Amino acid sequence: MVKISRSATTVFAFTFLGACSASSSGPAATPEPMLEEMETESADPTTADGIFTLAQADRGEALFKSTCSECHDSADWTETGFRGRWEDQSVYQLWYYVNERMPYDNPWSLSRQETTDVLTYIFKLNELPAGEDELATDDDSIDDYWIAWNPRLP
Ligand code: HEC
Repeated sequence: MVKISRSATTVFAFTFLGACSASSSGPAATPEPMLEEMETESADPTTADGIFTLAQADRGEALFKSTCSECHDSADWTETGFRGRWEDQSVYQLWYYVNERMPYDNPWSLSRQETTDVLTYIFKLNELPAGEDELATDDDSIDDYWIAWNPRLP
């Protein structure tokens, strides 16, 4: 399993978090109100769009059991506080948080694949829909999506 170095990842993070905030707050053409409403429909893809597979989430669950459950209950990741903190953030930000800081007692030990898989387990716990394709592990793919939790959950 290839692990990229801390410094390489830091560079990525700067690049992509930068890219993300630029796209959310950058100058956008101001459309007519009607158009704006229509654009929300087809806006950037989110976690509601079926961006992972169940098989991937199952791998994430196995990792959770072996590596995270010592400190975390899976209910940690469906509680309102957690969801509120991450709602509308980019998937990349949560990915990066886990990749950089978890497991708390052994940070930087997860591979990109493991980080991605465990993230999709968190999505599944939150009853987000699975889709046809796995969430890929490269920065560009991860940075494509915003976190939108399932509104049916309390
Ligand atoms: C040794 C204990 C420990 C292990 C093992 C551990 N964590 Fe954590 N985790 C923590 C602590 C402590 C925090 C809170 C950190 C803080 O607030 O700075 C945390 C926070 C988090 C958060 C942010 C939660 C929030 O409410 O915003 C996520 C996500 C997370 N951990 C995921 C994981 C995943 C995934 C794994 C397994 C790969 C894992 N953790 C393994 C102790 C642990």
